[in-house]
Amino acid sequence: MTRKSSQRSRASSNLLERVAWIGAGNMAEAMVRALVASGFPAERITVSDVRPERREYFHTTLGVAVAASNREVVREVTLAVLAVKPQVLESVASELRGAIPRTATVLSIAAGVTTRCIEEWLQGRPRVVRAMPNTPAMVRSGATALCPGSYARELDLQRAEAVLRPMGLVERVPEAMMDAVTAISGSGPAYVFFLIECLSEAAAQFGLDPGVARRLILATVEGAARLLRETGLDAAEARRRVTSEKGTTEAAMKVLEARGVREAWLAAFEAARRRAAELAHSW
Ligand SMILES: NC(=O)c1ccc[n+]([C@@H]2O[C@H](COP(=O)([O-])OP(=O)(O)OC[C@H]3O[C@@H](n4cnc5c(N)ncnc54)[C@H](OP(=O)(O)O)[C@@H]3O)[C@@H](O)[C@H]2O)c1
Repeated sequence: MTRKSSQRSRASSNLLERVAWIGAGNMAEAMVRALVASGFPAERITVSDVRPERREYFHTTLGVAVAASNREVVREVTLAVLAVKPQVLESVASELRGAIPRTATVLSIAAGVTTRCIEEWLQGRPRVVRAMPNTPAMVRSGATALCPGSYARELDLQRAEAVLRPMGLVERVPEAMMDAVTAISGSGPAYVFFLIECLSEAAAQFGLDPGVARRLILATVEGAARLLRETGLDAAEARRRVTSEKGTTEAAMKVLEARGVREAWLAAFEAARRRAAELAHSW
């Protein structure tokens, strides 16, 4: 463990006495793995799931306590993570009514379910924080946005951040921005995968070895993001700097502009944001 991650784990250990996950799926696994790897004691984590094989898996591979009863795992928690699919969240939250300590934080990672819905389902002024992680969280390079519900305090946001930060970047936003976040960073990895698909297709057409092409493309995507982060450069300015007159990048950019690629991307992101809003109103 590095000095920075050991400080981080001390911070999460101090803020969080006991943490429980309801739902032992892919996201719960990414979160528990990252938290334990950051130094948080596995003995202070309990996980419940309807599937015995998932409980067994979490117990044997991650060393955490497991239980079949959702009400049992939240009994003495500092923070409970609701990590089930959005369509079962209402029944899970209703089942948990009155079981979560009043001083505990309830962290929901369910896509598109508002804090107001969760507060109504749980009843009793629960301290709900809603988060939207993305799939690179699985390799601890995620981007998560979170927002407080009506009864959440600063401490609840800090506890939620302590659980989420081992998976990558965490940003606070107002809840009204959660649909935008879903469209930008939630679906964001898929847009980048699409670009990678297109670059790979072109590389194959040009006759590049697929293994070489994959390594070049992945290093290019990672490198471009890192360049912007480390220099603080604006993306448009960085692009301008690599686009010399009558050069190769300019030739490519002319085709993209002539074919309306910018407008197509913007329309796609707006469609994702609208769909996120529709889903959020469907609960
Ligand atoms: N995966 C992502 O990239 C991602 C990104 C952002 C947000 N999220 C959110 O994260 C949440 C979890 O997603 P996931 O991909 O981890 O889902 P998942 O793999 O399906 O995990 C959910 C687990 O909860 C179990 N479960 C169902 N009903 C339950 C109940 N009543 N009590 C306890 N456990 C129950 C499920 O069992 P069954 O399979 O038998 O139903 C499953 O094992 C979702 O709300 C999703 O919107 C996911």
